[in-house]
Amino acid sequence: MDVNTTEFSAPGKIILFGEHAVVYGYPAIATAIDLRAKSSVLDSSKQISTISIPDLFQKKQFELNQTPLPQELTALKFIVDSILRNFELKKNFDIKIASQIPSSVGLGSSAAVSVAMVASLSSFFGKSLNLEEINKLAHESEKIIHSFPSGIDTTISTYGGGIYYENGVIRELPFRISSAYVVIINSLIKRNTKDIVEKVKKKYEEKQNSIKEIFNNIHEIVIDAEKALIDENLPEIGKLMSLNHNSLKDLDVSHEVLDKIVNVLDKNGALGSKLTGAGGGGCVISLFDDFTKAKDAIKIMKEKNLQAFLSTFTTDGVRNESN
Ligand code: PMV
Repeated sequence: MDVNTTEFSAPGKIILFGEHAVVYGYPAIATAIDLRAKSSVLDSSKQISTISIPDLFQKKQFELNQTPLPQELTALKFIVDSILRNFELKKNFDIKIASQIPSSVGLGSSAAVSVAMVASLSSFFGKSLNLEEINKLAHESEKIIHSFPSGIDTTISTYGGGIYYENGVIRELPFRISSAYVVIINSLIKRNTKDIVEKVKKKYEEKQNSIKEIFNNIHEIVIDAEKALIDENLPEIGKLMSLNHNSLKDLDVSHEVLDKIVNVLDKNGALGSKLTGAGGGGCVISLFDDFTKAKDAIKIMKEKNLQAFLSTFTTDGVRNESN
């Protein structure tokens, strides 16, 4: 018997410039990364539909109609229900999710899973959604876990490449720099974006003038960075990353471990490095114009028992992986 299988993958993301200030209406730039989540959907041999996420729940397979489902699965159940609502012919299926993207460190792992799952499940039922439809449904599901997601994560995961985001408006930023190597280092320090955003809000209320000054500096960095990205000026992009990291330090959202990682990378050939996302832990990103230097930096980080990944500025969005 032929087993009907569809498989789609979607990338995670990093914020290159402008985190935190973006919450106050300033612009930010983000891009897709070469770490992907994969969703496979296949005919079920049983009378029920199931989902398994070995990275999160080891060997456990959940029946989709079981209640209650673990909280982590509620957004994915929403996707299943939304898609099934459109089909009269129901058949049972097994969904398997596998992800290369570490969770809770600001790399957009849940958005990537949602996007890959929307694409694979709709395709399994014979309806290929267009990118706009995929992004919309994935964004709806993200609202279940992160009450007010900006839409940055699902948009990047769907379309790939880079984006410029300002005041809720997302536009494509078409940079694909094949000579750039981005090293992503996971400090393994988990943090909660909401708590750090709250901390900044408190500071903003207490010392508006000095915090606004930091945000204005970040704003200028973002404007210069857009130009440098379009001009493919890697030394300038690196310099602006380091400046952005210093502004985030001024905002008190860095962490001594992140600052140490940045220092080590700067001494080992990076054009510039910064924390990415909320800070307080999570990841550092570092730019190189040389593959060997980037690989060496990864080795150095791994020797320090940190996770380190290589990425580029040429990442595709959601992709059909079925063959
Ligand atoms: O935690 P992350 O990497 O998804 O990013 C948070 C970025 C902030 O600017 C700090 C918050 C936000 O909602 O934009």
